[in-house]
Amino acid sequence: QQDPPYVFVIFGASGDLARKKIYPTLWWLYRDDLLPKNVHFVGYARSDLTMEKIRDSFEKNAKVRDNEKDKFEAFLKQNTYIQGSYDKVESFKKLQEFNDDLQKRTKQPVNRLYYLALPPSVFAEVTQHLKEACMDYGDSWTRIIIEKPFGTDKDQIYRIDHYLGKEMVQNLMTLRFGNRLFGPSWNRDHIASVVITFKEDFGTAGRAGYFDTSGIIRDVMQNHLMQVLTLLAMEKPVSLNAEDIRDEKVKVLKSMPPVELKDVIVGQYVANPDSAHPEAKAGYLDDKDVPNDSVTPTYCMAVLKVNNERWDGVPFIMKCGKGLDEKKSEVRIQFREVPGDIYAPGELKRTELVIRVAPNEAVYLKLMTKKPGMDFGVEESELWIYPTIVAIMVSVYLMHMSVYSLKSLWDLKSILSVPMSLNMHGFGGVIPGVDHTNLDPSGRSDLLRTIDKAKVHKNPSIFDLAIMY
Ligand code: BG6
Repeated sequence: QQDPPYVFVIFGASGDLARKKIYPTLWWLYRDDLLPKNVHFVGYARSDLTMEKIRDSFEKNAKVRDNEKDKFEAFLKQNTYIQGSYDKVESFKKLQEFNDDLQKRTKQPVNRLYYLALPPSVFAEVTQHLKEACMDYGDSWTRIIIEKPFGTDKDQIYRIDHYLGKEMVQNLMTLRFGNRLFGPSWNRDHIASVVITFKEDFGTAGRAGYFDTSGIIRDVMQNHLMQVLTLLAMEKPVSLNAEDIRDEKVKVLKSMPPVELKDVIVGQYVANPDSAHPEAKAGYLDDKDVPNDSVTPTYCMAVLKVNNERWDGVPFIMKCGKGLDEKKSEVRIQFREVPGDIYAPGELKRTELVIRVAPNEAVYLKLMTKKPGMDFGVEESELWIYPTIVAIMVSVYLMHMSVYSLKSLWDLKSILSVPMSLNMHGFGGVIPGVDHTNLDPSGRSDLLRTIDKAKVHKNPSIFDLAIMY
């Protein structure tokens, strides 16, 4: 008897998510033999497309190596495209014909997984039509995956956040709990601040219709960044079991007081003629799918607090935005000053642990070391770990004095004491008088315009960071 057949259906096969994530990931799973043998992929969308066109849309993102070309062709052979609408049950019958046909050929019931890479507004009708036309035959299973943002919690629905699949996000726990080094200092006595940054140099990338109803807080902050925060702040779970980890994360969330409006800045990207991305060359409001008076934030910075014994008083600063100057996602943990400093005033810089999630995953620790030579001068060095190539190297950078002097201004404690100005001069304006664009450049002020957060706040669909209000 043949292996049981599986069908993976990608609704929204013509979209951004399919092109950027789903097809490339399916290919990588297939390439690494991590999928069942008899697996078939069906792309489904309204557009008049062919598999050739779908292939063109994701091949670049799939990063097929020269020696993988034959396997990639084999993967494509397992793929089919079906054009259909989301609101007509007749279209879904075409999908069922595919399943029926496969069942006839293999003489086995077909397991099917429907991935809805679609806007939430069509979740209900699509699932309804699936129920009417495409359910299993009893001995097989049918599963549905939906993409955020979606409403309230439900039993029997598994929720995942694709950020949790990232190597560096998974590495956070290993770094913390697999090393003796960090445990004793991972608390308010030793850590001055935690900054979680997410920047993209592209804008809505054709997704403005979705994005404008969602905004960066729902799109990225309340999910991806919050997952990172909980992994950084939680206590050691009893085991690596998903429920034990979840329980610890929940405790962190429960310890977080609502964010105060004064600790939030929101903005929208404006035109950037230098951008490599067409939609970010123009501003957010220039997008044809964005209403002229939209107050949807494409950028948000918020200072969060975790009021428990470990973290009381330590700011967790989240910054995220689209249409900025670079693509970068990272965590910076800044340690407190050395007590009883015996060096010249200002010579010692704070120890900093940087975990770069993307691009080019890396972990590096900024440390003070002795300047080679006859005296006891010190300089900042970086201890690098590239987990993906399992190489460790110590590189000593003679840092330029101007970087030093700017860095000394980077005193995050003041973020808590200085009320944030509504008037956002980029990030430099967060702490009056301090230009930290060179320190932790989360964007350039000329790439953003301030939006009135009070107005944004009134629109719950785009400002409902659960712990915020
Ligand atoms: C998605 C957001 O969840 O995450 C996108 O909807 C964002 O707006 C993307 O671009 C970022 O994920 P990654 O893995 O590409 O960094």
